Amino acid sequence: MIYLDNGATTLLKPKSVSRASAYAIRHYASPGRGGYRAAMEAAEEVYNCRELAAKLFDTQPDQIAFTLNATHGLNVAIKSLIGPGDRVVVSGFEHNAVMRPLVAIGADVVIAGRRLFDPDGAVEEFSEAITPETKAVICNHVSNVFGYILPVEKIAEICKEREIPFILDASQSAGCMEISHRDLGAAFIAMPGHKGLYGPQGTGILVCGQLGKTLLEGGTGSQSELLTMPEFLPDRQEAGTHNVTGICGLAKGLEFVLAQGPVHILRHEQRLIEKAVEGLADMPYVHCYAGNSCTQAGVLSFNVEGMDCEEVGQYLAQHDIAVRAGLHCAPVAHESAGTDKTGTVRVSVGAFNSKRDIAAFLGKMKKLHR
Ligand code: ALA
Repeated sequence: MIYLDNGATTLLKPKSVSRASAYAIRHYASPGRGGYRAAMEAAEEVYNCRELAAKLFDTQPDQIAFTLNATHGLNVAIKSLIGPGDRVVVSGFEHNAVMRPLVAIGADVVIAGRRLFDPDGAVEEFSEAITPETKAVICNHVSNVFGYILPVEKIAEICKEREIPFILDASQSAGCMEISHRDLGAAFIAMPGHKGLYGPQGTGILVCGQLGKTLLEGGTGSQSELLTMPEFLPDRQEAGTHNVTGICGLAKGLEFVLAQGPVHILRHEQRLIEKAVEGLADMPYVHCYAGNSCTQAGVLSFNVEGMDCEEVGQYLAQHDIAVRAGLHCAPVAHESAGTDKTGTVRVSVGAFNSKRDIAAFLGKMKKLHR
């Protein structure tokens, strides 16, 4: 199979990831729950993963909370800062992991920056939309549909100046973009462990700039005499037994990203996307949504004239090429780009894709039509 659905999850991962998870399932008990070797070693491995994540995201280990996925982290962040009727400014490229909690809460959602691949316009619109009444700003770093890199550093700067909490959705950027929690001064940064960090599914990280409310309450192995959650991180956000198997794999994914360097991974992915765009440009029946190396990461959306996007996805699947078609759980992003009625076909690459994968994809696309 040619796997081009890394936006959903990275199926191709360093071998060390599955090895570490397999080892953990056989050898590690519950961290922080016992003084015997299997529990102590589990605690050391979990802390090691925290340290690696803190290094990558330029923060302190105790500000790294492990979550199930990015959605889990975003729910903690959003429910910590936003209540019914609160004004919140978001980008025009948010995923339902942001939009659905906001709608469920009954927040007053203001959308800024709806033009695709227009970071300067987005900064201007955010600057206008962020008023003293704004309770929080939430921005996607890289659109999961179009690969659009949003100007989050500048948006975070505006938030800092105006003292408005900033939440970053790093679902598609963690591992392939430089992210400094210290520089952004973000209240929260949420991300999955299983995409650009190459960890197993069921892992995620929430970088916490503050304590936040709890989404789950339960045992933490600390302050067990209290019937309330600890008032310190990361315990406050980590009720219940850790996903040690997943976290041990995630640590190896983080080691891989730190060794390669996010900038290097991004450049590799961008080259593959550029190659795909060049190839698709020779096919007049294909319409690509392409930016440039400053505005687009390793994700590309396109449509084929006269064909439903799901049909194209199915055709490619029949030829053992994995892409994702439809609305990608991000109807707001599709509305912004004017593709809400049609959806798109999405190609998303990772560190383990090669030019050969793109050539195979283009070969099948050439045979598609007319
Ligand atoms: N949000 C993931 C995607 O874009 C699952 O496919």
